[in-house]
Amino acid sequence: MDKFIIQGGHQLRGSITVHGAKNHALKMFAASLLSDQPLTLRNVPEIEDIFRLAEILQTLGVVVTQKRHGLYQLTPNGTIKTVLPEKLVPRLRASILLTGPLLARYHTVTLPHPGGCAIGKRPIDLFVNAFQAMGARYQLKKGHHRFTVGDKGLCGTRYVFPIVSVTGTETLILAAVLANGRTIIVNAAREPEIVALAEYLNQHGAKIRGVGTSTVIIDGVKRITAGVATIIPDRIETLSFLFLALATKSRLTITQCQPNHVEVPLQLLRDCGAKFTVEESSITTHPWKRLKPLQVVTREYPGFPTDGQSPLTVLLTQIAGVSSVMETIYADRLFFTDMLNRMGANIQMHTSQHITIHGGAKLHGKMVDSPDLRAGIAMVIAGAVATGRTEIGNIYQIDRGYESIDERLRSIGLNITRQAS
Ligand code: EPU
Repeated sequence: MDKFIIQGGHQLRGSITVHGAKNHALKMFAASLLSDQPLTLRNVPEIEDIFRLAEILQTLGVVVTQKRHGLYQLTPNGTIKTVLPEKLVPRLRASILLTGPLLARYHTVTLPHPGGCAIGKRPIDLFVNAFQAMGARYQLKKGHHRFTVGDKGLCGTRYVFPIVSVTGTETLILAAVLANGRTIIVNAAREPEIVALAEYLNQHGAKIRGVGTSTVIIDGVKRITAGVATIIPDRIETLSFLFLALATKSRLTITQCQPNHVEVPLQLLRDCGAKFTVEESSITTHPWKRLKPLQVVTREYPGFPTDGQSPLTVLLTQIAGVSSVMETIYADRLFFTDMLNRMGANIQMHTSQHITIHGGAKLHGKMVDSPDLRAGIAMVIAGAVATGRTEIGNIYQIDRGYESIDERLRSIGLNITRQAS
């Protein structure tokens, strides 16, 4: 397995560009199944999760062509299979998104349990309940989930999400656009990636109202066409770079981002004394001498995102005083802090979802691991802050969501190399 080697302890400088959002691109790939026409996507991040979903779609009969860097065309080619591949689905939680369009158009879908990051339980009960509410039958046989509907297809329904779910909301939208009648989603997720997905679908024949609010209304249509869409900037990559810049006390300009998608994290940072210049599509950080500790609770959008929590925690190790983090979305997303403690941080875990950080620590390079995507980028940030050599294993996890991160960080002055093993 490849490793990153970082010689840290230095300020960074210059500018770094944010790439397209993983969690928008994955949903657009799933949307390719809604029509027989080619879907062209610009600004697609070249990351492992996208490659895996492309492989899954290809096994189903979608022709996925990379026209050039970041430009993809997806064309369903004749008969589409509705049984998802055994080996790939357990590696990618986002495979669950394909169930919506497949069930809506082909009236059946079978899949093994979708896997993904080891950050806590990843059940699919909400999907099962929502599809059943739309008239689908559900069976679980030998570890495989199977959904079927009669010839008339899915029926519109009013579905109340008991907890807010991002892919739950998106999958239900992807199913409901081709269902019979009206679907009302109550307690829907409001992430910008969902808004972008719905805007594209509406431009191609769907009738979706209310996205970006907690009630989404979808009037089913007979047909969706396909066209061209541009993937929005990755707000989690934006935050990762922002916390990297602040943790290393650097002046860094983060370009091609959408600051209005990270307003709550920006406000929290302002409140603790951080200075940065925000323009329409860039954020420039300023080196700091003193910041106040922070109390952070992860929340659904527009709150502080769980995906920004691990990189933020590294910054908190550098701020003198006691900060705290409550992780409310996932049960197992704070265990990586053990590795920060081995590097010299002073983090106490009160429960698996609550830590306090006694900041102002000097971090020293160590051999660490990348347990999941966001903890992985947090270890890169920790390596950049720490003096000496940090070696990070299992970097496939980082490559899942950050394109060529080593090259891009080298361009802003980080001494990072990729070592193949
Ligand atoms: N949940 C259930 N039952 C379900 C579905 C979800 O109990 O059927 C629970 C989850 O276990 C979790 C909570 O609901 O505790 C919220 O999870 P959600 O369904 O919103 O997560 P997701 O849609 O699977 C997406 C992102 C994640 C991000 C979360 C939360 C994609 C492909 N993934 O996951 O991204 O953490 O929303 O914002 O959009 C990442 O990019 O690193 C990542 C993990």
